[in-house]
Amino acid sequence: MIVETAPAKINLALHVRARRDDGYHEIETLFAFLSDGDVLRLAPGPASFALEGPFGVILSAEGDNLVTRAAAAFARAFDLPSEGAFTLDKRLPVASGIGGGSADAAAALRALARRNGIAIDDPRLFACADALGSDVPACLYGRSALGRGRGERLEPLDGLAGVPVLLVNPGVAVSTGAVFSAWDRVDRGPIGDGDLLERALLGRNDLEAPARSIAPVIGEALAMLEGTANTRLVRMSGSGATCFALYESEADRAAAAAAIGAARPEWWRLESTLA
Ligand code: C5P
Repeated sequence: MIVETAPAKINLALHVRARRDDGYHEIETLFAFLSDGDVLRLAPGPASFALEGPFGVILSAEGDNLVTRAAAAFARAFDLPSEGAFTLDKRLPVASGIGGGSADAAAALRALARRNGIAIDDPRLFACADALGSDVPACLYGRSALGRGRGERLEPLDGLAGVPVLLVNPGVAVSTGAVFSAWDRVDRGPIGDGDLLERALLGRNDLEAPARSIAPVIGEALAMLEGTANTRLVRMSGSGATCFALYESEADRAAAAAAIGAARPEWWRLESTLA
């Protein structure tokens, strides 16, 4: 049995630069990963896929899954039979801007690479990841990085490991494509220089305004996080609706989680740390 965690991804900053002819947007983003996420298990046997965990039911209702697509892409790329019994413990909310599906696809590729003795830096593995989604290459390596292009041109960046983080999702799923379409097409400039936190603090998430126009409750989540003590950065992740705050200490994070939990018990929360 192979077990791969599929860590949640957050975008410490996300600058949208231009819409390309292929419909995708040229972006610059600071990826960071958490020490928590979904958990994917791969057991020997005929090809199968099962879901469990708090968000498993929602996902099975949707049908198409990135884990099975990743397994099919891997089998084609390496000319191997499609086999292996996957079980996904779905702990992260679906369509929430923290890369759940992308992380699951990347975990499936890593599990299959381990099973078949393929190196993680094999270019065919990267090609599979790139074809599966814009965030999948970053999730394949699972380490903080500056991402350019659609997010697949990656430069590793260190510096925030161990920082306490609180994620809050106000219970709305937003479509990434819809949020990108609502972007106002104004290029507000690149991500600056400096260390990871400096770059993040100087940066912004250009998808926040379009996401808030689609789901105004995102503004409430941001205001709630901004009202907590000793934050280092408060921002929406990806195309939303999940928002996050980085804290000075674990005690600050715990106090914030308790306060938000009391005010909005129906919102999803995750207390974690940056990897
Ligand atoms: O690549 P992925 O399948 O995750 O993207 C989902 C949708 O988000 C795309 O179909 C596209 O509409 C939009 N997108 C974009 N520019 C990006 C990434 C995603 O327009 N860089």
